[in-house]
Amino acid sequence: MIELHDVYKAFGKREILRGLTLTVPKGLNFVLMGPSGTGKSVTLRHIIGILQPDRGSVRVDGQEVPAMNHHQLMELRKRMGYLFQNGALINWLSVAENVALPLREHGMLPRDEIDDRVHEMLRLVHMDQAAKQFPPDISGGMKLRCGLARALVTKPEYVLYDEPNAGLDPIISREIHELIVDVRDTLHVTGLIVTHSRACATHCADRIGILQDGRLGIEGTVDELVHSDNPLARDFLGEGSD
Ligand SMILES: Nc1ncnc2c1ncn2[C@@H]1O[C@H](COP(=O)(O)OP(=O)(O)O)[C@@H](O)[C@H]1O
Ligand SMILES: [Mg+2]
Repeated sequence: MIELHDVYKAFGKREILRGLTLTVPKGLNFVLMGPSGTGKSVTLRHIIGILQPDRGSVRVDGQEVPAMNHHQLMELRKRMGYLFQNGALINWLSVAENVALPLREHGMLPRDEIDDRVHEMLRLVHMDQAAKQFPPDISGGMKLRCGLARALVTKPEYVLYDEPNAGLDPIISREIHELIVDVRDTLHVTGLIVTHSRACATHCADRIGILQDGRLGIEGTVDELVHSDNPLARDFLGEGSD
């Protein structure tokens, strides 16, 4: 379980998070929505311990992330995959080498097992044919699937997805949404998905929270939010939103 309680974070005088409380129960996909620049990526970065809150608590499975030492943070990051916007691949490494990076960084598997694991993950995202290609030569959708394989390669319990369908057309987005649901159902991964896409939220989420003024303005099941009269929910999930 991921639990943020009353988290505050400012950069200089700009207060970004102002008492954010958010719980992601195990085994579910939680979708975090909100306008650009409201602190969604900042929230994710607190959960993997790249940012420290000014105050409040950030816990993963009961463990306080800001209190972790370097070793504990490395252990946490093995259990938590991160899918960056647009995949964030390294252009001069092949698809397979990109996917292998977290395993090498954490020294997690013997050399001969790394290849097997990488190909297992590439098959899962339907990318095994592209293992030897390089990021500049593949489409946006393929980059994202490669990023997802990399996020999954350590067999994490959690995956944080930062705008998994940004810049992708509706058909490719839909494939990504289906993969995100598959990852929950077949790998039992708990997901926290940042998006402003209604399609992504309604397809992938078990619960949705919408960030407003540094905290959740509204939170509930997909059904509750889609049918809500709350103006914030209607802006993001009502008919006509995208
Ligand atoms: N390390 C940082 N230093 C200063 N400002 C930052 C930093 N990270 C994010 N911000 C600012 O915090 C705000 C929220 O950023 P972000 O979480 O990336 O927004 P989004 O909701 O679009 O993901 C933005 O105005 C951004 O410029
Ligand atoms: Mg962001």
